[in-house]
Amino acid sequence: MMQRLLTVGCVGVALVGLCAGMSMTGAGPSVEVEASSVMQDPTTNDGVFTSAQARRGRRVYNRDCASCHGGELRGGEMAPGIAGSDFIVFWVDLSVGALFERIKVSMPEDGPGRLSDEEYTDVVAYMLDQNEFPSGEAELPADKAELDKIMIVAAE
Ligand code: HEC
Repeated sequence: MMQRLLTVGCVGVALVGLCAGMSMTGAGPSVEVEASSVMQDPTTNDGVFTSAQARRGRRVYNRDCASCHGGELRGGEMAPGIAGSDFIVFWVDLSVGALFERIKVSMPEDGPGRLSDEEYTDVVAYMLDQNEFPSGEAELPADKAELDKIMIVAAE
């Protein structure tokens, strides 16, 4: 694990052209700093929701969102698409917490805030699933502060 992180850190440093110098001087404190910076906030590529949660979210989506956003999240006459390029263009580099909050304060458009935090969180998990992000071992927490730490990135 540590070995891998150090390697990743070195690759990051290589981008600014310092990697060779660093491997000559050996693993010094500056490598430690680089290694800890790659351990920062998780992204949507890190398996931040479970497949069971996404399935629960699909039920919420079909009940409360699909009438406007369409069965495939591709949008329709009533609403924009919330999967694929429509989603990525808008949401990359924003946090999952921002997405959660946006949905909570404005959706469903015919009754914003009507769902529980758990339901909003599950629907976010479903959206991530539909945007081809990987599921993992732990559920997305229904907690805005925690969700703020997870960044939306382009799917790998
Ligand atoms: C009554 C129709 C309607 C329903 C139901 C509805 N939406 Fe929307 N939604 C819209 C419209 C119209 C917009 C565009 C206007 C706006 O941004 O507020 C929108 C915008 C959005 C956006 C922002 C799009 C973007 O990426 O910029 C998201 C995300 C979203 N909806 C998610 C949801 C979710 C999740 C649900 C179910 C909990 C839902 N919506 C239910 C009509 C609806």
